[in-house]
Amino acid sequence: MVASQGRVVLITGASSGIGRACAQLLSERGHTVYGTSRQPLTEAPKGWHWLELDVTRDESVRRAVDAVLAAEGRIDVVVNNAGYALAGSLEDTSIEEARQQFETNLLGVLRVCKAVLPSMRERRTGLLIHISSLGGAVGLPFQGLYSASKFALEGLTESLRQEVAPFGIQATLVQPGDVHTRITENRVLASQSGPGSAYRAPFETTLKTIEADERDGVPPEDVARTVLELLEHGSVRVRYSVGKLVQRAAVMAKWMLPSRAFEALVMSLYGLSRD
Ligand SMILES: NC(=O)c1ccc[n+]([C@@H]2O[C@H](COP(=O)([O-])OP(=O)(O)OC[C@H]3O[C@@H](n4cnc5c(N)ncnc54)[C@H](OP(=O)(O)O)[C@@H]3O)[C@@H](O)[C@H]2O)c1
Repeated sequence: MVASQGRVVLITGASSGIGRACAQLLSERGHTVYGTSRQPLTEAPKGWHWLELDVTRDESVRRAVDAVLAAEGRIDVVVNNAGYALAGSLEDTSIEEARQQFETNLLGVLRVCKAVLPSMRERRTGLLIHISSLGGAVGLPFQGLYSASKFALEGLTESLRQEVAPFGIQATLVQPGDVHTRITENRVLASQSGPGSAYRAPFETTLKTIEADERDGVPPEDVARTVLELLEHGSVRVRYSVGKLVQRAAVMAKWMLPSRAFEALVMSLYGLSRD
């Protein structure tokens, strides 16, 4: 178990949205925060340190982790948050686009875990907080690879928990519903999803709903408060959901409704039907 006060925290994807809100809140609460991203910040961070880190590059991850260990002697908590959303029908998504989605959202988390675990094991303490998504619990239409990357993150984290527990290390998942961040502007559209696509009309309808939901989402500070609670809590469960009650309830409905009824419900939320 890590000391409850003044923890050393490494956050990926801290240049905007959820990661930035986490960096701000955790540093205000007296924790030593290293927030990271590929691009430098547009304005200087207040009360936390920024480091360059591209989760898709081994050397970049190694350099940032070594820099924190050299400066602080330890990393108590990692918030694996960096990620982006790829949208488009699965048929219109190239294998390379799919690979890039997994490279960031799944293998980026694995890279950071592999870099920090040796020092955590040595100290027999540590907490890994993985930002998943409600899309990691429900397969979302036209966000198939995004959902797949978050489903994979859920599996990775469930397995990881069992492997690292004997070393005193904990891992947990946070599943936000829609959050108002730059995820909307940063969304990557599958290159074949343009005018020639057979899926164009339903994709456009769905994308409009996705974007409107995100703009109407909860503020990233709501997710940061959950992350803070987990960090200051002694023992963490496998997963926590954050966001609008209706979206969190939709996940529960998956286990309560007959599968085709649940699927029809999800489709209707995105303006889709079977015919
Ligand atoms: N917003 C939502 O509705 C929502 C819902 C559920 C889950 N999430 C998850 O929350 C996490 C944060 O997303 P957000 O909503 O805060 O989006 P955001 O505002 O677009 O922020 C994404 C962050 O990830 C960083 N990033 C992207 N690719 C990276 C890479 N290869 N290496 C390092 N950093 C990288 C970005 O910085 P650089 O581009 O400078 O590197 C940025 O700081 C993601 O994992 C996302 O899937 C978001």
